[in-house]
Amino acid sequence: MSAPLAQTSPPSTVLVTGAAKRLGRAIALKLAANGWRVAVHYRDSVEEARQTVADCSRLTPGAQAFRANLGNETAVRNLLPAVIEAFGQVDAVVNCASTFEHDTAATFSFAAMEKHMRSNAGAAILISQALHTHMAERCKAQPDASAVVVNLLDQKLWNQTPDFVSYTLSKAALDAANSMLALALSPLVRVVGVAPVMGQHQPLLMGEKLEEHRAALAARLQATDLDTTDAVLLALLDASIHGTTLLVDEELPKDKPQPPVPELEPLAPFVPTARRHGRR
Ligand SMILES: NC(=O)c1ccc[n+]([C@@H]2O[C@H](COP(=O)([O-])OP(=O)(O)OC[C@H]3O[C@@H](n4cnc5c(N)ncnc54)[C@H](OP(=O)(O)O)[C@@H]3O)[C@@H](O)[C@H]2O)c1
Repeated sequence: MSAPLAQTSPPSTVLVTGAAKRLGRAIALKLAANGWRVAVHYRDSVEEARQTVADCSRLTPGAQAFRANLGNETAVRNLLPAVIEAFGQVDAVVNCASTFEHDTAATFSFAAMEKHMRSNAGAAILISQALHTHMAERCKAQPDASAVVVNLLDQKLWNQTPDFVSYTLSKAALDAANSMLALALSPLVRVVGVAPVMGQHQPLLMGEKLEEHRAALAARLQATDLDTTDAVLLALLDASIHGTTLLVDEELPKDKPQPPVPELEPLAPFVPTARRHGRR
């Protein structure tokens, strides 16, 4: 009779918000392909969430869907405890869900700002807070346990345009929260930002031009998503990344030859002299 198999620990569990479609789904699949059990959060996209769960489960068994409107504080506060109850523990959260509605300086309103702030910044902070509470409890039995939060930001923060004012403000708030949470939640929870470049969102284009842009992007989108999902996976796995943001640049496709890195001139040996210290 063969020896019984050694007890293996359960796979790490990650909650990905907004994981029914698009980038959130791509991140969920990437993590499932790398052995993570995925809690698939969604709001309205019921069928798509079901599909993401099925596809993740084929890669790493046990994915489940969790519904919550991240604009509702009670729903946000209930989300992580529901995932913990289902899986026993959570090791990482990827805050990917976001409201993305058009406004400008001319049409800006408190209502639009609040809507974006709630789901895009407030929810990410509350979920991070809940993960920290969970880790503080877990560490009583597992002193070495630690967890990670990845916040999806936007390169628009570093390349400003005058549109999507409320969305951009909410991502700026999340960027600031990313730094503050990194200080506040360490060492139990690492916090990392990942900032994709604009992909399908192309706010200044409307009608036919938007369709043209989408068609042109379709071929590149896979690579774009892959780059962002790679960055999220790296953020989860590399314990040295904390309190910073990885900017994902789709302008440098992997198959495009890059200019050679110029060789540096060797440095002249350092010779201390009296003149160096300003005495003639
Ligand atoms: N795609 C890009 O080009 C790009 C560029 C830069 C940054 N990003 C960032 O990357 C992330 C993903 O981008 P994306 O384009 O894939 O996002 P998206 O399609 O605009 O939104 C992702 C999901 O967010 C969920 N969501 C929105 N409001 C919600 C709320 N109040 N409560 C709960 N869920 C809510 C929706 O889920 P349901 O459908 O289930 O309602 C939606 O499917 C975002 O944080 C975005 O800011 C994306």
